[in-house]
Amino acid sequence: MADRARVAVLISGRGSNMAALIYAARREDCPFEIVLVASNNPEARGLELAAAEGIPTFALSHKGLDRAEFDAKIEAEIESARADYIALAGYMRLLSPELVARWRGKILNIHPSLLPKYKGLDTHRRAIEAGDTVSGCSVHLVTEDLDEGDVLGRTEVAILTGDTPERLASRVLIAEHQLYASVLAEYVGRKTDPDWIVAKVGELALALPESHARTSHGAPGWRVGTEKSGKFFAYVSIHHHGEEAIALLVKTSGPDEMAALIEADPDLYYKPAYYGAAGWIALRLDRPDTDWEHVAGWLRKSWSMVAPKKLQAMAEFL
Ligand code: GAR
Repeated sequence: MADRARVAVLISGRGSNMAALIYAARREDCPFEIVLVASNNPEARGLELAAAEGIPTFALSHKGLDRAEFDAKIEAEIESARADYIALAGYMRLLSPELVARWRGKILNIHPSLLPKYKGLDTHRRAIEAGDTVSGCSVHLVTEDLDEGDVLGRTEVAILTGDTPERLASRVLIAEHQLYASVLAEYVGRKTDPDWIVAKVGELALALPESHARTSHGAPGWRVGTEKSGKFFAYVSIHHHGEEAIALLVKTSGPDEMAALIEADPDLYYKPAYYGAAGWIALRLDRPDTDWEHVAGWLRKSWSMVAPKKLQAMAEFL
């Protein structure tokens, strides 16, 4: 199995969603693990449970610190736990725009309403008072604006006649526990799913001039030039020749560049079977922290090594 995504959970109180994530991660086939539970409230009940379950915890009261200062301290802990993602679970504090920008696409939150309805607080009372017949919960990506990011999944929960906000909340909470673990697994797992990876590489490769897709010995590949005489500039190797990895194969200038890359970052680069001898390097794509800008840069570089001269002139504008 590919490396599991490392998740830091932020809480402010009870931590029942945190517990749901911790126990979901106990399954061997779960694509994430919880590496840290941090809180802005040293009294948060969830901290005790996390510690008892062997998860490192960190607590710091935000009182007396400004938002950026406080977030920098929390972020330092998240970084030293080598987390790939942050899951907010009843974390009742806005994050600073700087932290959100640095972790874009990597912070998830659970919210007790069917977003985009009822952002903010007191969601259950508002749903009941509006006469809604269904409420529910949503998991969404966190952006600078409160409860605004892309919704990744929602579960509907019926509102019963005579429901109080408390009764409704307790049923929605059951739905939250199911939803959060499954959406988080899907979100972090899709990044190691071969179909998703091939589609993502294809999107970047086909954005380069005069490129087209072509399978080579069963491996998805991309060529530049005409259908007839085009040349390959990239392949995706999916557990090729028994290798553990899913990787992008791109052209280097030769053995020296290859050796230097592997030495500089042996977790990311390796010499692939067969192709390696011909100057192709493998860059792992099945790690949770793939930098797709970097992948796009490699595709451009590899494309310009094999593209005809007249096209290379165009590449300067890419
Ligand atoms: C949960 O219902 C969660 O959806 C909500 O706080 C509760 C925390 O419970 N979050 C928000 O309202 C965020 N705006 P928990 O600590 O037991 O997970």
